[in-house]
Amino acid sequence: MNITEFIAALPKAELHVHLEGSLEPSTVTEIAPEVSADEVRARYDYRNFSGFLEAYKWIVLLIRTPADYALAARRLFTRLAAENVRYAEVNLSVGVILWKEQDVGAIYDAVRKESLNAPFPVRWIFDAVRQFGPTEALRVAELAAERVAGGVVGFGMGGDEARIASPEFAEAFRFARAAGLHLAPHAGETTSAESVWGALRLGAERIGHGIRAVEDPDLLAHLRREDIPLEISLSSNLMTGAVLSLRDHPLRRIADAGVPVVLNTDDPAMFRTTLCREYELASVEQGFSAGELRQLAENGFRYAFTGSARGS
Ligand code: ADE
Ligand code: ZN
Repeated sequence: MNITEFIAALPKAELHVHLEGSLEPSTVTEIAPEVSADEVRARYDYRNFSGFLEAYKWIVLLIRTPADYALAARRLFTRLAAENVRYAEVNLSVGVILWKEQDVGAIYDAVRKESLNAPFPVRWIFDAVRQFGPTEALRVAELAAERVAGGVVGFGMGGDEARIASPEFAEAFRFARAAGLHLAPHAGETTSAESVWGALRLGAERIGHGIRAVEDPDLLAHLRREDIPLEISLSSNLMTGAVLSLRDHPLRRIADAGVPVVLNTDDPAMFRTTLCREYELASVEQGFSAGELRQLAENGFRYAFTGSARGS
């Protein structure tokens, strides 16, 4: 069995994937016939974080109806199942839905219905957008809290961490935690280890990206001691310019420091990747052995926010 076959056969979990970033060009043309697949491919091409955010804004504006969101979800689940994914937690950019003045309830009902029909268990993480500010984030936390018994397990936060720091969001995170939601904000993707500390002070249980932790040995020791995993996405970090090359990516150093790591796609269509490809990159670019890849895959179940993922 070669490494590609080995990775394909591994039962995997996907814990950090944005529904909005999963729309392949062919799906975009279905929901927005005025756009060509070539235009989508051109838009999905950038080498820095601001270029990525611009493309993200462009794509979310094309997702206009609950049926569009449902189609995106259906396609994502089909692709993940083909990769032997057995469990997923999917980020829904509720901050963006509010910004578009769309009906969060109708959209969530539509994607939730798709997730109940998926061939593996799916849970949802409602994401706020940092640059939309603390009041908006609290609203997202409230909307997530209303659905704790209805498939939502977490509260997250994406967007531009350089624009607004974590302490501003203390109320939203406190509210989310009190409502029984798990906390998984993005932090330390493009800025600093201090940004990860800021997320931890808010009670973060997993960190989206968090790769800047490598700059702070005390932080690495803390993450190891507290058993807090980093959700790492190699292709994403390369295409947003968060790292300059995959060879120099800190994944290996972070894992060797004993910090738990899970591998994810983040925005698979926008970063032209798949979960299997992320494992292949860990093997080829960072020298992860088959045993280490197996451990990474097991981490996906171990650090899931629901017991239903474990033992799958
Ligand atoms: N939203 C979707 N993908 C993101 C990323 N990589 N960083 C911040 N926010 C995001
Ligand atoms: Zn992300």
